[in-house]
Amino acid sequence: MSLRARITGTGMAVPECVVDNHLLSRCMSTTDEWIFQRTGIRERRVSPDTYQMLLRHAEAPDKTAYMREVKERGPNGNIDSSLAASDLGLEASRMALKHAGLGAEDLDCIVESSTLPDLAYPGTGCVLQGKLGLTSTPVFNLAQGCAGFVYGLSLADQFIRGGMYRKVLVVGAELLSSAFDYTDAGRDMAVLFADGAGAVILEGLEEGMPARGLLSHHLHSDGSAIDALYGEIWGSSTFPLVSKKKIDDDRARPRMNGRSVFVNAVKRVKEIVQESLDANSLKPEDIDFFVFHQANIRIIEVMAEAFAIPESKMLNNIQRYGNTAGASVPICLHEAVMAGRVKDNDLVMLVAFGTGFSWGATLLRW
Ligand code: UT7
Repeated sequence: MSLRARITGTGMAVPECVVDNHLLSRCMSTTDEWIFQRTGIRERRVSPDTYQMLLRHAEAPDKTAYMREVKERGPNGNIDSSLAASDLGLEASRMALKHAGLGAEDLDCIVESSTLPDLAYPGTGCVLQGKLGLTSTPVFNLAQGCAGFVYGLSLADQFIRGGMYRKVLVVGAELLSSAFDYTDAGRDMAVLFADGAGAVILEGLEEGMPARGLLSHHLHSDGSAIDALYGEIWGSSTFPLVSKKKIDDDRARPRMNGRSVFVNAVKRVKEIVQESLDANSLKPEDIDFFVFHQANIRIIEVMAEAFAIPESKMLNNIQRYGNTAGASVPICLHEAVMAGRVKDNDLVMLVAFGTGFSWGATLLRW
């Protein structure tokens, strides 16, 4: 009997600390109006360390000097962070397990993706597995950026369809805020990205009529434009990995060519939605609900216009959470499910695009 993978639980986690655009405008040359008009963001959630740093930063007379000090010593001269991506992943995973009526010990496999891992190695999925109290469950660690969750879903789906595993946890966990430069030099990224995690439980169910669960995945990557969105931070492309010179040369923070990413995102997201529709012989109006990666509300607005998607068929939460990279799709899905916006038997399309570039779309029947 062939198996089909179905989402049986969803969960999310965001840090408690809320940073609105006004606080950011006290740290760098920006305004609530600029951020909201260009991105749709009003506020975002960040780790307690970033929050403390921003509060002090807002008061600092010499912002550049303060940020340099933070980069070298941390805001309290303390280099151990109080919250890591795996902690947010843990909270989201526990919620998803609870909704599915499962315990961590029931899992056959974990697929996790983080843009910025807890450690250079092992991957954040391994750290998360340990925090879940597991000692032998296999873990796949992805680093697929904003498309990480959609990539993870496709992998988990194949494991279930192939009969290798029956219950798989898929997580997108991101703690990005600690990497940004909250002065004018880094304002393009600092206002956009934030922290959070989302998780789902996928379970293998016997295929029924009509088909339920994950129906198709379409994935692509293009490694020819790395410069548009990347972070050297501690990578092996520099020697040594971490150095004072790296900080002096301002190479310890992520980089983005916002225009280029924006143009590519619009092109690729449009293509992938169409590819998924064509492969399933569907029209845009056949889709009951769209979950778009919350990169920038303007990208989502272009999609809404291109495919004539009414507001009732989407949930956007970028206003409250900013761009949480690989966590944004599962967070949005969780909120949509909890709000009753995704209903039994609905056809749902999940779409993501990000660093790599990597992008993808998953079609599922809820
Ligand atoms: O999740 C992964 C995928 N990521 C994305 O999809 C992000 C895609 N890109 C974007 O969302 C947008 O490109 C941004 C929101 C990052 C920037 O918006 P934009 O409309 O593309 O602005 P821009 O980069 O063309 O910059 C316009 C101006 C520039 O000033 P000049 O050169 O015109 O004087 C920037 O320096 O806005 C300036 N600027 C800012 N001003 C106030 C850049 N960041 C800020 C800021 N506040 N935070």
